[in-house]
Amino acid sequence: MATSPWWASESFWRKTAIWVTGVSLVVLILLTFDSMRQITAGSKRVPAYSAINYRIEYKFDEKRYVQVPVRGIKEPLFGKELSEQEAEALVAKGKMTIQAKNCINCHTLLGNGAYFAPDLTKSWLDPYWGSKETREQLMVDFIKDPSNKLHNALGRRMPNLGVTDEEARGVVAFLKWMSTIDTNGFPYNFKSMQQEN
Ligand code: HEC
Repeated sequence: MATSPWWASESFWRKTAIWVTGVSLVVLILLTFDSMRQITAGSKRVPAYSAINYRIEYKFDEKRYVQVPVRGIKEPLFGKELSEQEAEALVAKGKMTIQAKNCINCHTLLGNGAYFAPDLTKSWLDPYWGSKETREQLMVDFIKDPSNKLHNALGRRMPNLGVTDEEARGVVAFLKWMSTIDTNGFPYNFKSMQQEN
């Protein structure tokens, strides 16, 4: 009777399957914890919520060859400096509004959502808002009632979603905070507004 080679035996493949499954499981668990650490607010790539107290600049990183957000001078949102807790509450208000109104039915945030309307990840730095002096109020006004405003080449309009003033301010805080996230250059080819003065 011809004996089969070691690599063709059933027990070899059974052991291999067990080892591969076991090692993959350990790697997945480690990666999950590592990802959680890297996406938590207050980490290197995702700044703490109080980042909205500062100017967000967008600089080209020669080494990584991508645009990265950099914390600039103190420039509190709506002219009022917030504590970490107050900033978190305001950003959370914006996040809840964005979820409740299902903004990603049309928009994308960090690449999640639909492609009907512009990606909002760096909307805070969009040159459309004119200057950094006009931006905050323009954004609040636009989010509250965008129905008769049309500013991009898509020719699509955003409907009035009945967002209140307080909610719109939260959304702007959320978008400012979102623009501080180091997204490895996403979205590509984004040109930030000039903010020097
Ligand atoms: C039915 C689709 C739709 C929904 C839902 C929607 N938007 Fe829009 N939004 C648009 C379109 C289309 C534009 C581009 C319109 C324009 O340029 O005038 C836009 C533009 C914007 C802009 C300007 C983006 C930029 O930087 O150019 C912001 C900010 C914005 N939306 C926020 C929101 C928020 C916040 C919500 C949820 C409360 C939301 N949108 C829900 C369609 C939508």
